[in-house]
Amino acid sequence: MSEFSDKHVCVFGGTSGINLGIARGFARAGAKLSVFSRSQDKVDAAVAELGALGPAAHGASADVRDPEAVQAALAGAVAAHGPIDVLVSGAAGNFPAPALGMSANAFGSVIGIDLNGTFHVLRFAFEHLRKPGAAVINISAPQAWVPMAFQAHVCAAKAGVDMLTRTLAMEWGPAGVRVNSLVPGPIAETEGMRRLLADPSKADQLAKTVPLQRLGTVDDCADVALFLASEAARYVSGAVLPVDGGWSLGGAQIAMSKVMAGG
Ligand code: HXC
Ligand code: NAP
Repeated sequence: MSEFSDKHVCVFGGTSGINLGIARGFARAGAKLSVFSRSQDKVDAAVAELGALGPAAHGASADVRDPEAVQAALAGAVAAHGPIDVLVSGAAGNFPAPALGMSANAFGSVIGIDLNGTFHVLRFAFEHLRKPGAAVINISAPQAWVPMAFQAHVCAAKAGVDMLTRTLAMEWGPAGVRVNSLVPGPIAETEGMRRLLADPSKADQLAKTVPLQRLGTVDDCADVALFLASEAARYVSGAVLPVDGGWSLGGAQIAMSKVMAGG
């Protein structure tokens, strides 16, 4: 028995990469999972994998930019597994481009997924959260406070995500709902890294810009997500917690100018 046995964990964007790793962590700890993203094929594969790892898995295709799709996804999840104990909002988009190389739609697509999508997920999940006791985890990025060239859209969007974390921690604290941001650093073998590290042979060079001298793993992020959702973090709300080996202290700037796409 773990404290997550039979708890209901919902992960938006939970069908690949870091978010799927977080979903796996909760499934291994005995939680019932609900995962959502746009691709039905990715949803089906994640549900099959998570159902084999844990007690039960549910999933549906939903675009977080569409508030009605988010509401329908949440209603389906609650019908399948009951009130939500842990909500993870991690759907995101990224591509490296100078601001002058972005159309209004290009900038808006990342704001729409990362920032508006996070608002939709949290806004419409609130009524379904177990109160008191639910934990909300927004997946942010170092770009939220480390300015990076070719990342204007992501920097703006994730800064907004962290302010949603802080403001909703204030609004929802009295209901017994904690809201925190988990901030992955450069995580190996993820879509985000594939997009930003145009030349994979530079992975070792990138690792040297991290104080702990290695890239992160999906499990590094999953372990901290379980901590943030756990009883051990019962007095933690409104926190923005880097899981980045110290990268955002300075190395992230060096990496963006010397190692990563556009540098
Ligand atoms: C300039 C670009 C572009 C590029 C797309 N666009 N790529 N503009 N340079 N390299 C423009 C398109 O031309 C279009 O504008 C607009 O963006 C929307 O593109 P669509 O493909 O129509 O949009 P959509 O299908 O909604 O896809 C959204 C997406 C896509 C973000 C563009 O890449 C996506 O779905 N990504 C999801 C997966 C992902 O990115 N994972 C990584 C997350 S990592 P016009 O004007 O032509 O219509 C992360 C942080 C990592 O978030 C941090 C690491 C430290
Ligand atoms: P990923 O595998 O591409 O994960 C993104 C997920 O979001 C996928 O499941 C994707 O599935 C879903 N998604 C994208 N657009 C969506 C939309 N409009 N509606 C619903 N779902 C959508 O990327 P990742 O690299 O693991 O990143 C995961 C999270 O970590 C993101 O929040 C990212 O900003 C953050 N992060 C990553 C890194 C890194 O090193 N990789 C560093 C810092 C922060 P579909 O395509 O099926 O929709």
